[in-house]
Amino acid sequence: MKKIMTHDDVMWELPIPSAAKIFGSSLKSNSQPDDHAVFRSWMGLALNQASLKAVFPKITHVLGHHVDQWLSEAGPVQLDEKTRFMMVEVAVSAFGRLDVNQQMMDRLCEDALVVQKGLYVVPIYLPGTNWYKAVHKRTSYLKLLEGILRVRFEVDAAGCITESNLLEAGKEKVPGSVDTTLAVVQECYERKVKADVRYIAERLLGNTVAASETTSSTLLATMIAIALVPRVVERLRQEQAEVLSAHGSELTYEALQKSVMPYLDATVRESTRLLPSVHGVFRRAKRDFQIGDYTFKKGEKMMVSTDLLHALDPCCMEEGMSSLSEITGDIPLYVDPSRLLTSFQPERWLEENTAKVPNLHSFSFGQHSCLGMNAAFLEIKCALALLLRKSTWELLNAKPEIKFLPYTHLADGPAKFKFCPNPLKP
Ligand code: HEM
Repeated sequence: MKKIMTHDDVMWELPIPSAAKIFGSSLKSNSQPDDHAVFRSWMGLALNQASLKAVFPKITHVLGHHVDQWLSEAGPVQLDEKTRFMMVEVAVSAFGRLDVNQQMMDRLCEDALVVQKGLYVVPIYLPGTNWYKAVHKRTSYLKLLEGILRVRFEVDAAGCITESNLLEAGKEKVPGSVDTTLAVVQECYERKVKADVRYIAERLLGNTVAASETTSSTLLATMIAIALVPRVVERLRQEQAEVLSAHGSELTYEALQKSVMPYLDATVRESTRLLPSVHGVFRRAKRDFQIGDYTFKKGEKMMVSTDLLHALDPCCMEEGMSSLSEITGDIPLYVDPSRLLTSFQPERWLEENTAKVPNLHSFSFGQHSCLGMNAAFLEIKCALALLLRKSTWELLNAKPEIKFLPYTHLADGPAKFKFCPNPLKP
């Protein structure tokens, strides 16, 4: 399956009508290799270590503000929507470096929530359905993004970013200076296409979805797992206590690296394996080709299941799991909370043989692999470290069965947490 993702005769495709409609024209370049290469080179710069380090103060500021609000709430805190709001804000203001006041940001987050709920639904256009609401909200959401872009860039009468502004943007290549918004504008400049502000707004929508849907689901799932598996929270808090005494109370970019907080890193890794926000990727055969004994016919569509890849990797297989039927039977459409006690094992990512082999498939492989993996780890770990240093938490849901479709949620309603203040001392 890994070979499919890196094969020259395989092209990218998104055969989910609702998601394709929400992303709109922002998907066009994904199936055109030359345009896609330009996209990857600029977006890669926007999400490389230098850029992440440059925006780290903004990331901690946004996350710290949200986390403090959760901790200050008197009763149970429902986090399904709150984690989404937080990650949309990080995507727009930190990764996208767009200056948005709080009132505007609240509107953006509310719109994003409605639009993103339409991603994986049956597109039935009837008043009251999530699809109907998403389609309507998408129009005003794009207008809002357009308005924000017009503050940052010079736009001419035809609604395009001016030639001189484009030229200016195209010059930026100083390490750490590119962000995800500038990357899209620079891509237009390099491809010599008009930077229509409506098109750029659609691309921002795509960037925001990629950066927030996945990370908010993963953060929520990790917080649920931590609440349900006591040995994990004990070890995480112990690691934070050690880092506090060695590095002081400031949560720096350096302190969040895997070498300093290996168990926190392993916990997020395990969460993306067992409680994934992305379950697979879609491809289509450009022409007939062969992998091993299997022949793929031109036009054939395929879904590469990362859930299955994780189950097949020896390091991720449960003890005693041997036949394929047992493995495929383990691909979760839901996770029973009692199984987490044995299955959720961050330790597996600390073992030497696991660390050396690329066994984590949540971020895909090849020409379309995730460009935001480091960004995702950074923000999820940062949010968790901020929480773990101040508090422990319990999950109040009576039947916390985790479901994955259309996105990560608990079967018995929104995830309700009770935070118990318990600050760690430096
Ligand atoms: C837990 C978090 C995340 C997961 C599991 C995840 C997963 C993925 C996967 C599986 C793909 C590849 C899709 C394919 O092969 O068809 C992808 C693509 C992508 N991701 Fe992520 N992602 C995460 C977070 C992020 C974040 C935070 C950002 C940006 C800040 C981001 C930016 C992107 C971009 C730009 C692409 C498109 C790459 C391309 O088309 O060449 N992702 N992601």
